[in-house]
Amino acid sequence: MDQASLINLKTGEPVSWEKLEDKNVLNAVSFSPLWVLILSLLSGFCFAAQQICKDSLTGMEIELVDISELPLLNTDLEVDGICPPVVEAFRQKIAAADSILFASPEYNYSITPALKNAVDWGSRPPNVWGGKAATIVSAGGGFGGGRSHYHLRQVGVYVDIHFINKPEFFVPAFNPPPKFDGEGNLIDPMSKEILQQILVSLQEFTLRLSGNAQ
Ligand SMILES: Cc1cc2nc3c(=O)[nH]c(=O)nc-3n(C[C@H](O)[C@H](O)[C@H](O)COP(=O)(O)O)c2cc1C
Repeated sequence: MDQASLINLKTGEPVSWEKLEDKNVLNAVSFSPLWVLILSLLSGFCFAAQQICKDSLTGMEIELVDISELPLLNTDLEVDGICPPVVEAFRQKIAAADSILFASPEYNYSITPALKNAVDWGSRPPNVWGGKAATIVSAGGGFGGGRSHYHLRQVGVYVDIHFINKPEFFVPAFNPPPKFDGEGNLIDPMSKEILQQILVSLQEFTLRLSGNAQ
């Protein structure tokens, strides 16, 4: 992928890689969206995003976070304000991340229970989401899971997540041409291009929020 082809979506100017290379590497996290990571189409987004960062997005690394092992939220599981170890490990990953890539399917016009549960655990005091930059990608039926975005944005208001507004990315996964191969890898060139633009936008917004804007 050609770095020179990337543009700043706000100004239309080419991204200045020299300036970005001066920054510390941003650490973004992305969720495994479904219970069985490897079978989820949405994992394909996470892997593709990791590859884009490796190939062409200097200064950004993405780590996948598995939310499938988080227990259903029950505040009785907290002891002296400490959550169960698997939850604390998850919370620490979020706290350490500069930004978040939510790869979420839509379940019955909303976000999945697994994702809501993860957001809720992260919101226990101290809220680890506060002030993070974030974006959402989804795949689904005709609207590509788009309705789930607006529910997630609503939840994000209270936990103080700052979502980028554009580009938005909804992939109608069941319409031709094929978007994913048999193993769940993202293969559609147009979708890859938009995903790249989203990551550039997320990187810029994260730098801006942290006071490192160009
Ligand atoms: C309980 C349930 C509800 C769903 N509801 C929606 C929905 O409202 N809109 C939609 O586009 N897809 C819906 N889907 C399909 C998901 O979009 C699909 O499972 C998702 O794209 C992930 O694909 P995968 O299960 O192959 O990983 C639903 C799936 C399940 C299991």
